[in-house]
Amino acid sequence: MELEDREFLTFIKRVKDYSGIDLAQYKEAQMKRRLITLYTKRGFAGFTAFYDAMMKDRELYYEFLDRMTINVSEFWRNPNRWEVLEKKFITEMARTGGRVKCWSAACSTGEEPYTLAMILAENGLLEQSQIIATDIDDGAMDKAKTGVYPDRSIRDVPDRLLKKYFTQQDAHFRIVDSLKKHVIYKKQNLLNDMFDVGFDLIICRNVMIYFTEDAKHNLYHKFSRSLKPGGLLFVGSTEQIFTPGQYELEPAETFFYRKKR
Ligand SMILES: C[S@@+](CC[C@H](N)C(=O)[O-])C[C@H]1O[C@@H](n2cnc3c(N)ncnc32)[C@H](O)[C@@H]1O
Repeated sequence: MELEDREFLTFIKRVKDYSGIDLAQYKEAQMKRRLITLYTKRGFAGFTAFYDAMMKDRELYYEFLDRMTINVSEFWRNPNRWEVLEKKFITEMARTGGRVKCWSAACSTGEEPYTLAMILAENGLLEQSQIIATDIDDGAMDKAKTGVYPDRSIRDVPDRLLKKYFTQQDAHFRIVDSLKKHVIYKKQNLLNDMFDVGFDLIICRNVMIYFTEDAKHNLYHKFSRSLKPGGLLFVGSTEQIFTPGQYELEPAETFFYRKKR
């Protein structure tokens, strides 16, 4: 084994002992490449020197967390999928009535749970809904809680909804409090932590792609157990589940899976 590989294994173990984050459950080549780019840019010769420096320099540790988590998000990411969610599934929930319990898992800076909140509001469901939004990254969730976005991030928000659910401050747009108060943020590591149960809708998009096949397999089981019978799992547009039946899920629409009743 090469020195770099040995150092990477030690790095993984030390990061896990220190933070609980298990890098071994992320795709190795991708993760390694991102971290090597970061430490080289910061002038370190290898993973060991990088780890030692990180333990003395909080900023460097946060930069590492930032690099491993990748917080890119958008309102209405893949708009036609959100349209299906609204036209087919949310309308159905509105017809049935009752409380709607939703979870945006790996919510990053909040665009996803706020997109959902707007759709629920537009369909008269927000008041009876609960939206839990979780992420491993405190920094991203702080931004989500603040709910202020630069103009480039709101370009996919329909004009009518932009006027209704945001206030403009110069080049920034702030989510109105009446919407924000419906989203509850909680820090959570999808790979280690316990999941809440009884969800009508779980949205988990654009994070599975970073995980190993084993980690994904465990997660699908956990998501399935967290859904109510008939509840929906909405995944990212490169993340279809090939054999959903093994998780008691059935395809409901492209990138949507329903927990068997
Ligand atoms: C690319 S963003 C996806 C944001 C949003 N779901 C979307 O599709 O636009 C990936 C998010 O996954 C989070 N993440 C990475 N590993 C995680 C883990 N083990 N547990 C929870 N969140 C994690 C990151 O912090 C980041 O905010």
